Amino acid sequence: MKAIVQDRYGNPEAVLGLQEIAKPAVKDGEALVRVHAASIHVGDWLVVTGVPYIARPAYGKPKGRVPGTDIAGTVEAVGNGVTGIRPGDEVFGWCTGAFAEYASAPADHFVPKPANLTFEQAAAVGVSASTALQLLRDQGKIKPGQKVLINGASGGIGTFAVQVAKAFGAEVTGVCSSRNVEMVRSIGADHVIDYTREDFTRNGHRFDFILDNVANHSLSDTRRVLTPTGKLQSNNGTSGGRWFGTIGTVLKSATVSMFERRQLGPAIKFANRADLLVLKGLIEAGKITPIIDATYALSDTGKALAHVGEGHSRGTVVISV
Ligand SMILES: NC(=O)c1ccc[n+]([C@@H]2O[C@H](COP(=O)([O-])OP(=O)(O)OC[C@H]3O[C@@H](n4cnc5c(N)ncnc54)[C@H](OP(=O)(O)O)[C@@H]3O)[C@@H](O)[C@H]2O)c1
Repeated sequence: MKAIVQDRYGNPEAVLGLQEIAKPAVKDGEALVRVHAASIHVGDWLVVTGVPYIARPAYGKPKGRVPGTDIAGTVEAVGNGVTGIRPGDEVFGWCTGAFAEYASAPADHFVPKPANLTFEQAAAVGVSASTALQLLRDQGKIKPGQKVLINGASGGIGTFAVQVAKAFGAEVTGVCSSRNVEMVRSIGADHVIDYTREDFTRNGHRFDFILDNVANHSLSDTRRVLTPTGKLQSNNGTSGGRWFGTIGTVLKSATVSMFERRQLGPAIKFANRADLLVLKGLIEAGKITPIIDATYALSDTGKALAHVGEGHSRGTVVISV
């Protein structure tokens, strides 16, 4: 099968190549999926570039790795003991080795594709939508009528976060740049702040929950615009230097959260089956529609990752396989 194989850490266009490799084996309890589309989240870019350097032991050895996690496709085969999923089923979910013609994973990593989505749209859901859901529902515990601000409303997390917050009945303010104002409004934001013209920490409005995907203000400036019982969730893994990345910001927000109940500690979130089913329900109810920034061919995965690494995605970047 054709797959994108990593050679070493570095610039995605230099370290990734299209190769012919063996199809993954289907082990007991697993499903093999013919991948029709995969999507890229910021974590995929971090694993390919190997930044921050301090995280490399956690990323594992880069040579020979097929990167990528989020896919949508058709089940090709299932291993012994798998029930509830059959060859021919259209599914979406997560795996290791997404940027390839085939990927295998434990069968419970896959759920039926929402009937109203293309494979490209379904592939976009995965980690980004799960993160948005978990941060708003489990960390923020947002409630109908609450005022929620999403900083970085136009990116992979932000476009899902705006829609999830609306689905939970919140009054949503999205912060993005001029070129994304209409898009962020179109996915349901009640108010949109163009960060090139206005600073949300200085316009006098207060919020019950802030999801900060950008971390371009100090923690104290951002916390100042919370209501007396409001909460701030910092969620940024890319700012900071190449050696330590956001570790300073993460430690600071973790420390502040021990003394200041309005500052939530860092939360590392992963895709899980139950949440994919919740997202499928919201998608089929018309409450969430994935926003696709651009679609690349499998052979252009390096270019696609480099685009994500620039930090100006409009929704999610997808690979069509
Ligand atoms: N995606 C995931 O699954 C995931 C999971 C956990 C944590 N995270 C972390 O969450 C953060 C956001 O991830 P993402 O996937 O949403 O990133 P992304 O897809 O790269 O999007 C970043 C967005 O931020 C906007 N932005 C840049 N500067 C801004 C500013 N000053 N104010 C407001 N918006 C600004 C960009 O819009 P403009 O082009 O208009 O500037 C862009 O749309 C990252 O640090 C990532 O490490 C991501």
